[in-house]
Amino acid sequence: MSVVERFKTTRSAISDRFRRNLRSLRISVVDRCNLRCRYCMPEDDYSWLPQRDLLTNQEIVHLVELFSSLGVDRIRITGGEPLLRGDLTELVASLSENRSIRDIALTTNATRLAQYAEGLHAAGLHRITVSLDTLESDKMKFMTGRQVMAKTREGLETAASIGFGSLKINTVVIRGFNDDELCELFLYAKSLGAEIRFIEYMDVGGATHWSMEQVVDRNEILKILTNRFGEINASDIEGSAPAETFTLQDGTRFGIISSVSSPFCSTCDRSRITADGIWFLCLYAASGFDLRSKLRQQENLSDFIKDVWQNRDDRGAEKRSQQVQRSVLYDVTDLRRDHHREMHKRGG
Ligand code: GTP
Ligand code: 5AD
Ligand code: SF4
Repeated sequence: MSVVERFKTTRSAISDRFRRNLRSLRISVVDRCNLRCRYCMPEDDYSWLPQRDLLTNQEIVHLVELFSSLGVDRIRITGGEPLLRGDLTELVASLSENRSIRDIALTTNATRLAQYAEGLHAAGLHRITVSLDTLESDKMKFMTGRQVMAKTREGLETAASIGFGSLKINTVVIRGFNDDELCELFLYAKSLGAEIRFIEYMDVGGATHWSMEQVVDRNEILKILTNRFGEINASDIEGSAPAETFTLQDGTRFGIISSVSSPFCSTCDRSRITADGIWFLCLYAASGFDLRSKLRQQENLSDFIKDVWQNRDDRGAEKRSQQVQRSVLYDVTDLRRDHHREMHKRGG
């Protein structure tokens, strides 16, 4: 089944207060990361979840069974950096046995992808998204705190050669850092047969250096690309949210995720589970629901999940966009008090 066909098939799902169905589940499988991207983990110290609190593969598979019985049919595996989890390939193999799940995707920084891509593909992974913000080694070092350009490109290029259902590149655009590189990144993605998505720099938990001045919005991104490549048309591909997709005259497709300037909360069908089993209904939610304890105490989770989703009224990005003086969501002290508020804990 092609990616588009998989997305077209809809199953019954439960709805929240704004009639948004429960469809897409993002599972953070580990909170650790081997990089320190400035838009995500710019501080010197972080605290990590204790090993005993991490969900086992068996527990994740069980949760996915419950969620899929309630309408979830898309899974995205996130982190931290998910490839730091040693048994990830086995997890993907188990998840791919669930017939109700039509799409299993992975978001990774690709530094370990060269080694795992083949196995993940064989295990049933459909799609990969790689984070890449620059093509310049020095900037990469500045941006991620590590000299990982060669490893990242090797991972990305290995994935491109394997033939996943789709390969995407996520580029967070930051003024003064990589807004001069968008066209080169676009061409690099094109050369790999990957679809690039430019992401507005978001004021999520963890982005402690964020400021509105650094956000390059959707219109500005379109202008930069139009100046170089000519006319751009909006394309109407189903199931592409959160990205708005566009095509050049030659048919090359790309996306823009404009969560800052035009949030997509009204159609948001996603929620996320942290590596220790806390369920967050929104990227911006201050708190979540502890599924791990309920699971380990063998409580009835299905009714609980249903009830929580039906009462969901989150629209975090929209609310943020209504702020008059917009600055960081949480300062470092707040984050240290509750590290579940960090983007790297809830996986984007
Ligand atoms: P596709 O399924 O291929 O469309 O991928 P995706 O866009 O769902 O996943 P990905 O992990 O690539 O997400 C891209 C980025 O969009 C994230 O890293 C965030 O910056 C942003 N994003 C993801 N989920 C949400 C969300 O629920 N709300 C908002 N406002 N932004 C999100
Ligand atoms: N703004 C936008 N996207 C972010 N990500 C992490 N932090 C931010 C942020 N502040 C996303 C990037 C990366 C993924 C792992 O998380 O898209 O690719
Ligand atoms: Fe969904 Fe919250 Fe993101 Fe809005 S901000 S799109 S409600 S997760």
